Amino acid sequence: MITTAGLTKVYRSRGRDLTALDGVDLHVREGEVFGVVGQSGAGKSTLIRCVNLLERPTSGTVTVAGQELTALAGRGKRTSRELRSARSRIGMVFQHFNLLSSRTVQGNVELPLEILGADGKERSRRAGELLDLVGLADKAKAYPAQLSGGQKQRVGIARALAGDPQVLLSDEATSALDPETTRSILQLLRDLNRRLGLTVLLITHEMDVIKTVCDSAALMKEGRIVESGTVPELLATPGSELAHELFPIGEVPSSDGRTIVDLTFHGEAAAQPVISRLARTYNVDVSILGAAIETVAGLQVGRMRIELPGRFEDNVVPIGFLREQGLQVDVAGPEAAPAPRQPAVEPPHLAHAVKETAK
Ligand SMILES: Nc1ncnc2c1ncn2[C@@H]1O[C@H](COP(=O)(O)OP(=O)(O)OP(=O)(O)O)[C@@H](O)[C@H]1O
Ligand SMILES: [Mg+2]
Repeated sequence: MITTAGLTKVYRSRGRDLTALDGVDLHVREGEVFGVVGQSGAGKSTLIRCVNLLERPTSGTVTVAGQELTALAGRGKRTSRELRSARSRIGMVFQHFNLLSSRTVQGNVELPLEILGADGKERSRRAGELLDLVGLADKAKAYPAQLSGGQKQRVGIARALAGDPQVLLSDEATSALDPETTRSILQLLRDLNRRLGLTVLLITHEMDVIKTVCDSAALMKEGRIVESGTVPELLATPGSELAHELFPIGEVPSSDGRTIVDLTFHGEAAAQPVISRLARTYNVDVSILGAAIETVAGLQVGRMRIELPGRFEDNVVPIGFLREQGLQVDVAGPEAAPAPRQPAVEPPHLAHAVKETAK
């Protein structure tokens, strides 16, 4: 639904070049919620602004719903009609809501409909529907100043949906909100994604947001995407930084004479008593050093760090047993053999290979 290829943005300021995006290849599938995380300055906002061409990329292409936006001519005042119409089908939600304080809630939602040339009756009908959809039907006549942060963001979302978009872009939509309100806004985005089949690309710096609502995620660093994939794929990728952030299980302790193994569980494997089976079958003492098991993207997944007595060479058979049980096994200790790049047993739902670009 959203594809960028070789997307690059260089800002020129005071004679210096700053590469905010450096060859970004992003692919967001239709109907998914895709989260982009990364440190401040990584280029996340630049990416999202390039996706709807609010920012003109220096090079590369942006394709949304089969239409190559970067091929549509014009910028600034000369923005072509085609580009404007394509853009109206991409909704945008902002961190600081960007509501007009002089207009009522209804007036704010009607604004994009005015720009699209809808008549008064149609505007008011559509705005009513949208406010109903976001749970604010009773606030139509209120002014933004009379609303809570969460309510303001609901207005922002209703306004973003006015042009009947297929795609919703959200740049830190919840970072100005308290945790409970954040949850309700995320729930709303998830709900809209499901009910309207809306594809959502969101920027966040909260890993919880990825866990709660995202099907897929990407990590940005210095203008590049360094990891991307579905959340289960990422969790199954040895050494994935995103997986580590999603499921922190601590630092690798020094392990002389012992073998430290990181396990990733999916679906059925998560429900099996694999560890006790391992201990019984091979008569080994297994120590659990850390674990996190949760439901992510509707699937039960977890990571666990265990310690086996003996060196890696002594544990080849038990490690093979763990792989046979459908677990992703990543040997973490210093004596470890290099971990395989692909999951040993690839779960069937992993349609796309995880892409990892070197820095
Ligand atoms: N209009 C601009 N002119 C010059 N440099 C810019 C401009 N906009 C962004 N940059 C620079 O591009 C880089 C990426 O900025 P961007 O806003 O995309 O980061 P971000 O990942 O969204 O960060 P944050 O998490 O703080 O919002 C930064 O170094 C920033 O200073
Ligand atoms: Mg930003």
